[in-house]
Amino acid sequence: MSSDIVLEAKDLKRHYQVDRGTFKKPAILKALDGASFTLTKGKTLAIVGESGCGKSTLARLVTMIEQPTAGGLRIGEVNVTSAEGVETKDLHKMVQIVFQDPYGSLNPRQKIGHTLGEPLLVNTSLSKSERRKAALKMISLVGLRPEHYERYPHMFSGGQRQRIAVARALMLNPQILVLDEPVSALDVSIQAQILNLIATLQQQFNLAYMFISHDLSVVKHIADDVMVMYLGKPVESSSREELFSRPRHPYTRALLSATPMADPFRTKERIVLHGELPSPIAPPSGCTFHPRCPSMTDECRKKAPELKALDGYQVACFHPKEY
Ligand SMILES: Nc1ncnc2c1ncn2[C@@H]1O[C@H](COP(=O)(O)OP(=O)(O)OP(=O)(O)O)[C@@H](O)[C@H]1O
Ligand SMILES: [Mg+2]
Repeated sequence: MSSDIVLEAKDLKRHYQVDRGTFKKPAILKALDGASFTLTKGKTLAIVGESGCGKSTLARLVTMIEQPTAGGLRIGEVNVTSAEGVETKDLHKMVQIVFQDPYGSLNPRQKIGHTLGEPLLVNTSLSKSERRKAALKMISLVGLRPEHYERYPHMFSGGQRQRIAVARALMLNPQILVLDEPVSALDVSIQAQILNLIATLQQQFNLAYMFISHDLSVVKHIADDVMVMYLGKPVESSSREELFSRPRHPYTRALLSATPMADPFRTKERIVLHGELPSPIAPPSGCTFHPRCPSMTDECRKKAPELKALDGYQVACFHPKEY
């Protein structure tokens, strides 16, 4: 691996067995069905797609909350699926996560100082005063004040709580930060502040980000690369510049046409997606996007297009838009 690549996923899959009542056989739900990508120091890979397409499932695999059903995952030089003992503990320190709802992820009975010091207590041999010092330093880095050390989560605004969640995620000096819809629960006015903070911290610590969002207008600000997912599979993957200026997959194009962007010079085509997202338990035949696709042909019903790496982009479609 190039030394700047800190994580490499190859054809990652996560399938769940779901019970469907007494008289039916359990079904297999393919929440994630073959994602390959890398994360690079100082860079942001954004993962986008509608609710249920497998974004958080991917986040759980990358943060090792769950094991993949199949596929390879390397973090640093370690193969995650075969790592054991101390190795696993070190891996967990390297990858941290920030969730959408900071209130749910912070213990309401713990003062912020305690919340921030806890990862150090569990994972390092720092003394009490050293932990306090480290927590105070982090409090200041995320734009909070020293007196916040003694306060409880309910005493903060949503934006401040998300700052605390970011601070906690950084306490063990990770290399990779997974951000699962980190600003979706915040007011638009606060979103920009948190996004700026996230960007500043990335530079400061040379962090690799996996940034999950359903909102392309947010992704446009923060991503270096973008992977678009549909029903558990990546359908298009390229640099931000390429994706926003030359979107090729009809699904990407539909998502973009539904996203208000602050760009007065862009003449917008309007692509309306018909129908609901199908059930991942019984996905459509061939290309799973075909029932909703404006460019669908017979071939799309019969065969599933592979994700092909072309000149500077990857797309899984028989009829991608050409430029
Ligand atoms: N533990 C589980 N058991 C069974 N099915 C699951 C489990 N976890 C997730 N799923 C299913 O996997 C699919 C993908 O879920 P996931 O939470 O990854 O989607 P998402 O893209 O994060 O959606 P959202 O934007 O709403 O957060 C969904 O159909 C979900 O119901
Ligand atoms: Mg999710």
